[in-house]
Amino acid sequence: MPLATLFDLRGRVAVVSGAASGMGRAMALALGEAGADLLLVDRDGEGAERTATTLRALGRRAEPAGVDVAEPAQIRQLFAQLDRSFGRLDFLGNVAGDARLGPPEQIDLSDVEWTWRNLVYGRFCCCQEAGRRMLAAGRGSIVNIGSLASLTALGRGHIAYSMAMGAVAQMTRELSTEWAGRGVRVNAILPAQVLNSGLEQRMAADPTLRDKFLSGIPAGRLGRPEDIGGLAVFLASDASSWITGALIPMDGGNLAANAGATIRRGSKAEGRVPSPGNQGQGEGSSMPHRPASA
Ligand SMILES: NC(=O)c1ccc[n+]([C@@H]2O[C@H](COP(=O)([O-])OP(=O)(O)OC[C@H]3O[C@@H](n4cnc5c(N)ncnc54)[C@H](O)[C@@H]3O)[C@@H](O)[C@H]2O)c1
Repeated sequence: MPLATLFDLRGRVAVVSGAASGMGRAMALALGEAGADLLLVDRDGEGAERTATTLRALGRRAEPAGVDVAEPAQIRQLFAQLDRSFGRLDFLGNVAGDARLGPPEQIDLSDVEWTWRNLVYGRFCCCQEAGRRMLAAGRGSIVNIGSLASLTALGRGHIAYSMAMGAVAQMTRELSTEWAGRGVRVNAILPAQVLNSGLEQRMAADPTLRDKFLSGIPAGRLGRPEDIGGLAVFLASDASSWITGALIPMDGGNLAANAGATIRRGSKAEGRVPSPGNQGQGEGSSMPHRPASA
């Protein structure tokens, strides 16, 4: 296939959850720019409609769906809507889902279950509905959003979130193994800290948090929702046709860096963390690395 058409998504249909804001919206807009038509899922139906309006202005077909992915019955209805409105499915982006925090020794089991319903059942139920359609068609691509917490621990009361994101990693491996021979690929993107309203609030409440995050990110900046765009188009397109079961960090180098590593930053790095070792210095300055999180 010529390189020019390798990333072309024209004629393809994508379902993206969390499409009202953050990485879900950015993923949807990138897929739309590459040519895909979209069903935009979010419990914030008005936000999903705003994303749909932007996509329609690009000439795409875009339909919002106000759905809570923690409710399997709503997901079943969503895919019935997909069948009625679009009649095909080429890509699923499983992005939506919230978590509740609490120390392991205190967190209420109902909060663990709620988190599980958001991040595990929601993603799995969408995979199941999408997988049935893709297996029947003999082709399709699914991307689950995990986290660096799919592989490493965060502390700070993230026990329910981390357990759920660990399950998302195994969900991705199991489904890719089950479905690869029948044309359906399943991959995961594992982000480090990507700016969103919740993260901004937590960093405002704890002024040490931003530097703590940045100290673990060799690239020297936090993620932005649009960082997911190119990766999502790649994974949805024929350019990634032999890639399945991959857990891809989107983290500015966080996962690769050992906790004892020394990070050298150029003078142009954004959000540099001042430390006695690098304050006011340029190329070649260094700072101690502390483990960060996602
Ligand atoms: N931002 C980060 O640093 C980060 C890092 C790793 C993983 N993640 C995960 O990525 C996903 C998206 O994060 P984001 O930063 O884009 O968040 P965001 O808050 O910017 O957007 C999340 C969107 O999902 C929707 N949503 C949440 N729960 C839903 C539900 N149950 N049903 C339907 N819609 C729901 C919200 O309305 C919102 O529009 C989340 O699952 C998050 O845990 C985020």
